[in-house]
Amino acid sequence: MSISVVILAAGQGTRMKSTTPKVLHEISGKSMLFHAIDAAKKISDDITVVLYHQAARIQESIEAHYSGIHFHMQDAVQFPGTGGAMKGVHVTHSKALILNGDMPLVTMNALESLMQGDADINMSVIKLDNPSGYGRVVISEGSVVEIVEEKDCKPEQKEIQTVNAGVYCVKKELLESYIPALSNDNAQKEYYLTDIIKMAVDEGKPVHPVIVEEEEFKGVNSKLDLAHAEEILQRRIKTEWMKAGVSMRLPETIYIDSRATFEGECMLENGVSIQGASHIIASHIKTHSVIEDAYIQNSDVGPMGRIRPNTKLINTHIGNFVEVKKSTLTGVKAGHLAYIGDATVEEGSNIGAGVITCNYDGKNKYQTNIGKNVFVGSDTQLVAPVTIEDDVIIAAGSTINKNVAQGELAISRAPMKTIKGFFYKFFGEK
Ligand code: UD1
Ligand code: CA
Repeated sequence: MSISVVILAAGQGTRMKSTTPKVLHEISGKSMLFHAIDAAKKISDDITVVLYHQAARIQESIEAHYSGIHFHMQDAVQFPGTGGAMKGVHVTHSKALILNGDMPLVTMNALESLMQGDADINMSVIKLDNPSGYGRVVISEGSVVEIVEEKDCKPEQKEIQTVNAGVYCVKKELLESYIPALSNDNAQKEYYLTDIIKMAVDEGKPVHPVIVEEEEFKGVNSKLDLAHAEEILQRRIKTEWMKAGVSMRLPETIYIDSRATFEGECMLENGVSIQGASHIIASHIKTHSVIEDAYIQNSDVGPMGRIRPNTKLINTHIGNFVEVKKSTLTGVKAGHLAYIGDATVEEGSNIGAGVITCNYDGKNKYQTNIGKNVFVGSDTQLVAPVTIEDDVIIAAGSTINKNVAQGELAISRAPMKTIKGFFYKFFGEK
């Protein structure tokens, strides 16, 4: 891999109106910056992230997920602006791709088109009916002549509809000679990275415009932009999975995390939410169920089931209003209204309506183990830690706080009694 990548992420992101740094806002389960890093990782082994605002927090978050990423602290007080961000950045390869940390929708295709050819600079250009807000790109005879920032535009330049999308592929030697020579002689008193274009043109070096899609290069600056980007990414994720054989009923009502994966023939009904790095194999997830970081194989869930992290369901039926957390269920039926947490349930067992594992005593969590062919009657409370061996029947309404051995019936109920004629005594005779 002979290209370096620099990701600019030092900006403040004021318009996000958030205490969370802009680039750490998530889209489909992954921060914007991680979308950019993942794209960069596919093409480069030399990735530098430029930071300034909330640098420590962003660096920490990156280091918790990735290794081998380089960091560069911008001196944003002395050298503000996108050009200032590049001051002192060292790249190892002969070319560098410069990306923005707030562009989560850029595809590999687009990045590859920017890396092609032998121009000294390839720059991304979008054609827009309404170019306002962007730097205008002056193109003549297929080559870039100049970029004029909106705030520096003469009235006739404001009409230019080719704009700078902000991603560049630049030869290292140009960066090394031009970046130190940038000035801040402009309306914003910032060091503009875009000025390297003019420097290259002045020296007769070719600057090639690469026309790219607005949708992919749109920067996310506000929570409204964030929501729009999410919609676009969701559409892409679902399109890919449907092409791979996942059936979706009313796909526009379904949410799928960018880390989720499917195998075999899966069916997702309307309103389903698949979160985290869930892995779903040949299963049917019914209306309005929520799956969080779970493994589900040959099973069906819902409608309105909730499968929480670290759960493994194999050959299992989960019905409505059943919540499962950190449990492994193999060949189990839990049809209605149950909570199964910190448990293992084996082949052939049935969990009745209203069954609850009491896994938490207010201080610690405890384990419930249920063997094979166990019939857990409705409204049973399993007070953990507790083990139910194979071939056991638990009578409905029991509170189970001792282990039950193989083949036994367990029943714990206050004896029922009836009092003749009590109704009439209480409410009076008719
Ligand atoms: C920049 C371009 C403009 C282009 C637009 C596309 C310049 C001078 N202008 O404008 O031509 O149309 O992008 O979106 O480059 N950043 C830093 N340090 C800074 C300032 C910014 O790292 O001091 C980072 C930001 O975090 C962001 C990226 O650079 O990821 C772009 O910054 P932004 O302020 O959005 O650039 P624009 O002024 O919009
Ligand atoms: Ca700016």
